[in-house]
Amino acid sequence: MVAFRLFVLVLYFTFGVIMFGGQARYHHHHRRHKHSHHASQISMPPSPPPEASAPSPDENSNNHNSIYDVRNFGAVGDGVTDDTEAFKTAWDSACQTEAGILLVPYGYIFMIQSTIFTGPCESGFVFWVDGTIMPPDGPDSWPKNYSRRQWLVFYRVDEMSLQGGGLIDGRGEQWWNLPCKPHKGANGTTLREPCDSPIAIRFFMSNNLTVQGLKIRNSPQFHFRFDNCRNVHIESIHITAPALSPNTDGIHIENTNNVEIYNSVISNGDDCVSIGSGCYDVDIRNLTCGPGHGISIGSLGNHNSRACASNITVRDSVIKNSDNGVRIKTWQGGSGAVSGVTFENIHMDNVRNPMIIDQFYCLSKDCANRTSAVYLSDIQYVGIKGTYDIRSPPMHFACSDSVPCTNITISDVELLPAKGDVVLDPFCWNAYGELQTLTIPPVSCLLEGIPQSVLDNDIGYC
Ligand SMILES: *[C@@H]1O[C@H](CO)[C@@H](O)[C@H](O)[C@H]1NC(C)=O
Ligand SMILES: *[C@@H]1O[C@H](CO)[C@@H](O)[C@H](O)[C@H]1NC(C)=O
Ligand SMILES: *[C@@H]1O[C@H](CO)[C@@H](O)[C@H](O)[C@H]1NC(C)=O
Ligand SMILES: *[C@@H]1O[C@H](CO)[C@@H](O)[C@H](O)[C@H]1NC(C)=O
Ligand SMILES: *[C@@H]1O[C@H](CO)[C@@H](O)[C@H](O)[C@H]1NC(C)=O
Ligand SMILES: *[C@@H]1O[C@H](CO)[C@@H](O)[C@H](O)[C@H]1NC(C)=O
Ligand SMILES: *[C@@H]1O[C@H](CO)[C@@H](O)[C@H](O)[C@H]1NC(C)=O
Repeated sequence: MVAFRLFVLVLYFTFGVIMFGGQARYHHHHRRHKHSHHASQISMPPSPPPEASAPSPDENSNNHNSIYDVRNFGAVGDGVTDDTEAFKTAWDSACQTEAGILLVPYGYIFMIQSTIFTGPCESGFVFWVDGTIMPPDGPDSWPKNYSRRQWLVFYRVDEMSLQGGGLIDGRGEQWWNLPCKPHKGANGTTLREPCDSPIAIRFFMSNNLTVQGLKIRNSPQFHFRFDNCRNVHIESIHITAPALSPNTDGIHIENTNNVEIYNSVISNGDDCVSIGSGCYDVDIRNLTCGPGHGISIGSLGNHNSRACASNITVRDSVIKNSDNGVRIKTWQGGSGAVSGVTFENIHMDNVRNPMIIDQFYCLSKDCANRTSAVYLSDIQYVGIKGTYDIRSPPMHFACSDSVPCTNITISDVELLPAKGDVVLDPFCWNAYGELQTLTIPPVSCLLEGIPQSVLDNDIGYC
């Protein structure tokens, strides 16, 4: 046991180093981005992950599935008892069984500490949640020797499915109210002190994952984060946190590719979905977002890093009562490229900045302008309709001075004020592209053609 705990600690530190030292370093393929197709990175044909809509575990018991109910491993499920050890033991058994099912039964509330569930598991492994799982309530009850950055972590687990009709409750409220959170200190200040808060669910270096059917609420920080994963299928999940809960992104992906996010509903206090560096082949469909900060690619290029993301599609979705609709945000001084992004058939309902590119992203408001920037190209907006909040222009394309955005194409856009009169026109800065149809409101600020600086310079290597 001691050895196992040591191992967990070592893993935790390894994560820290990889996560904070190497984020922008993964997946460099040194080719000019215009020619970079990802064919050579995908060694397998894109095919759907394992069948997700399996029947409930009971109906399956005469099959070859083996069900490992956490109660049979000593879990109490009264919402108070620490059931961590029982979960770990159940995990060890279920994970080592072909088509094993770790069952978190309906009608019980299990309290578990920050835990790393480590693979590999036998194929067909399912973590089935019908009951409720929650962490200790708030920072004061979080044991000092457990990570404050993450709660449930799945590490090196391939072919796993996390599903069921249950609830994962992050009990985030006391974390959101820490005095280090924006304006939560005395008299509305923000105290400058360590502010780690756990991500509810992290998948790290895992492939062929399915997450389906669950409700996840009130994470102290991001609800889901995927790092260095491949073939991720997320379907029919429901994430909720209050509109004012800080940093509670719904799903964040980083260095992760072949991602599908379908038929889900997310309302929270930050980005609905955020897509970081090293992500490509991302398909988002039928997502309902809001309130929140919309769907975001970025922020990319922080601390002069190289960031690459491509082939990202968001379609058939609704974004309501949000600070942004579909956004690409990059920092001055970064490099790399974002290309091949399609936003299609998206309904906006009372959204500030429904369509926004911000290459001057800066949290402190005093970031210097730089000559280097992440190059944005081939960004397509098709069928973006609905209403916007007139405090911001309905379309805002602010591209770097030295690295323009190119090939922005816009068609079938109809955006009307949610209330009040039109005051701000679409805004463009150094943005090249074309309108393929007339739009409401009209856009007259896009520049035509391809600028010489892009043809002359070696920008956008990925
Ligand atoms: C933290 O300390 C408690 C009490 O000493 C112990 O039971 C637990 O295993 C420790 N956890 C870790 C991750 O070291
Ligand atoms: C908060 O404001 C009150 C009244 O202005 C003042 O007396 C108090 O010292 C302030 N507290 C802090 C921590 O700044
Ligand atoms: C993941 O899925 C792909 C495509 O379905 C398959 O080719 C591959 O073997 C799977 N990888 C693992 C590690 O299970
Ligand atoms: C879209 O997702 C919702 C759940 O958010 C679901 O009820 C609906 O059936 C989905 N629509 C389609 C066309 O799949
Ligand atoms: C883009 O990603 C989709 C999956 O989302 C994939 O089917 C398609 O082949 C990719 N396109 C390119 C050009 O890589
Ligand atoms: C950076 O450049 C933009 C566009 O030229 C300009 O609007 C902005 O004021 C500049 N910011 C700084 C801090 O110089
Ligand atoms: C512009 O982008 C679209 C996709 O958004 C792509 O199909 C087209 O080839 C690009 N045009 C050029 C000139 O690169």
